[in-house]
Amino acid sequence: MKTLLTINGSPRPNSNSARMLEAFEKAAAKYGIRTRRVNLLEMDLQMCRGCLSCFKTGKCIHKDGLNELMTEIKNADGVVLASPVYYGSVTAQLKSFMDRIGLLGEAHGRSLRGKVGGSISVARRWGHLMVQAEEMLWFDRVEMVHVGCGWCSATSTNENDISGDTEGLGYPGRLAENFALLWGLKDGQEQ
Ligand SMILES: Cc1cc2nc3c(=O)[nH]c(=O)nc-3n(C[C@H](O)[C@H](O)[C@H](O)COP(=O)(O)O)c2cc1C
Repeated sequence: MKTLLTINGSPRPNSNSARMLEAFEKAAAKYGIRTRRVNLLEMDLQMCRGCLSCFKTGKCIHKDGLNELMTEIKNADGVVLASPVYYGSVTAQLKSFMDRIGLLGEAHGRSLRGKVGGSISVARRWGHLMVQAEEMLWFDRVEMVHVGCGWCSATSTNENDISGDTEGLGYPGRLAENFALLWGLKDGQEQ
């Protein structure tokens, strides 16, 4: 069975990012893809100090659960990253994940190589594409394969809620479908 970790980069409980990930997880389950959610909010992630200890010991010096998360990622087939736009960029929580998991992956013999990734963004108005690009470029940098779906993003203009963006809320389902296509869990006929 294929397994994906879905990484929620929003620091808010009940976030729009979580809603997009839920839609993805529900659709993925239909194709027999197992998912496990990781809410970075609950981890209180520290920042990379650039000490490069991970290259000597194989572990990050911070004791905030990231080493354990790295083990889980190594055992999974891929990750789906979700972040709101914060001043035109991913959240600090997701950036910490990207910096530290990226470096640990290199320290572990480029262990992210060949895994599969999907990217999700939400914004009140502007900047989805920057977050999409940051997530996609991270996959490229760590030698993962990116699965697209026409940019999996939604806009939360009304009351900071993406409920009104029915088009955006449809993208996670398409993303799950494209993972299924890649893994031969769905035939390639257009529906
Ligand atoms: C610090 C901060 C910076 C933000 N910067 C932007 C921005 O540059 N562009 C934008 O459209 N929305 C911006 N927003 C709004 C969020 O992206 C938006 O509310 C999003 O739906 C929140 O997603 P979440 O519920 O997953 O946390 C910002 C919000 C915060 C708190």
